[in-house]
Amino acid sequence: MIIAGICLLLWFSPGIADEKKVSAIPERVVLNITETPFSSQAVTWRTRISSASPRAEILPVLDLLNPEKKPKIFPALSSTVVVDDKDKIFQHSIIFNELLPDMIYAYRVGDDQSWSEWNQFRTASEKPAPFTFLYFGDIQKDIFSMCSQVFRAAFQKEPDARFWLFTGDMVDNGLDDREWDEFFSALSFIPRTIPLVLVPGNHEYPGWQTIVPGAPRTISHLWRPQFTFPENGPKGLEEIVYSFNYQGVCFIILNGVENLPEQVAWLENVLSKNQQPWTVVAMHHPIYSVIDRRNSTELQDVFVPLFDRFSVDLVLQGHHHSYARTKKLKNNSPVSDKEKGTVYVITNSGPKYYPASNRYDHLMDKTMTHGVWFQSIRIENNTLQYTAYNMIKEVVDTVVIKNK
Ligand SMILES: [Fe+2]
Ligand SMILES: [Fe+2]
Repeated sequence: MIIAGICLLLWFSPGIADEKKVSAIPERVVLNITETPFSSQAVTWRTRISSASPRAEILPVLDLLNPEKKPKIFPALSSTVVVDDKDKIFQHSIIFNELLPDMIYAYRVGDDQSWSEWNQFRTASEKPAPFTFLYFGDIQKDIFSMCSQVFRAAFQKEPDARFWLFTGDMVDNGLDDREWDEFFSALSFIPRTIPLVLVPGNHEYPGWQTIVPGAPRTISHLWRPQFTFPENGPKGLEEIVYSFNYQGVCFIILNGVENLPEQVAWLENVLSKNQQPWTVVAMHHPIYSVIDRRNSTELQDVFVPLFDRFSVDLVLQGHHHSYARTKKLKNNSPVSDKEKGTVYVITNSGPKYYPASNRYDHLMDKTMTHGVWFQSIRIENNTLQYTAYNMIKEVVDTVVIKNK
């Protein structure tokens, strides 16, 4: 039996390897937000073998059926990446530029041999205009088997959301390509047509559990090749810390894992120049802890003075595998609805749970535990409508924030 088993293994192995090598079909096609979403759009994909002249074709979607209209061609930037310490794969990325605002485009990626399907995306308006985006917390565990249904419920509820924002820990081990495969499989076609805005969590940093405090921290080598985010953050934190404006809202992505002093100086500069009527911050580590064993006030000390000074409207967070939404706060205390202040939210979108503590109950409007949620956020003129849903699309929390 042992000999027969070895023979079977030898007989099957080359076939499996060959099958993998001949596949040049674009995989993991994903749209990412850019610094100027009214005129540009980033797309990233990978192939298992090198691709001769990898590129994309794009045109306004209604021109797709007109034989006299030819798509514009964008050549890709490509790099090789070793995954799971053994397999070499090929990552490709493009930033479509000189796009028209508020236009639906069709695009496909590939090369002479293999093309993706045609996919659509919509550019942002150049001016403030109503829109909805979705917000997810940690995915991290049973990503394909459990979280697929959250994504499907979210897509059914808000098919026209302009982008999906994740506040980190999309996977448990940022080095494990199989977990990223689960993430993309669970999302299916959605990121081919709706851009992602991703915030790295501590689990996107290899070996984060054993890092010595103060020692340098380095994000997974898979992060930058497989996503293409704005490079307008502090030096060394490009594509990790970044900002972009979307139809009247300034979005700022921060990072609680590395280089806080550099982020503070950068954040102050971004906020002081911000002309948008609304400001939304997203970060992985919460400012106000809702679980017992995690109560660092370092982020409060560092960021809250700036959030207060510049009246950040909303801070979206993850990491604590629980749910909490604060009252409107300033200087670590509740303020009345008529005053300027900041609402902080923590949510969870995967099946890993921590019980909530009551430490900051005096600041909270709503806490929940042991659940999986997604959130829609709609901004329309001076009103922000925030709604949290459970996996069966029932409303579990809602609040309206006014910005005068
Ligand atoms: Fe987490
Ligand atoms: Fe985390």
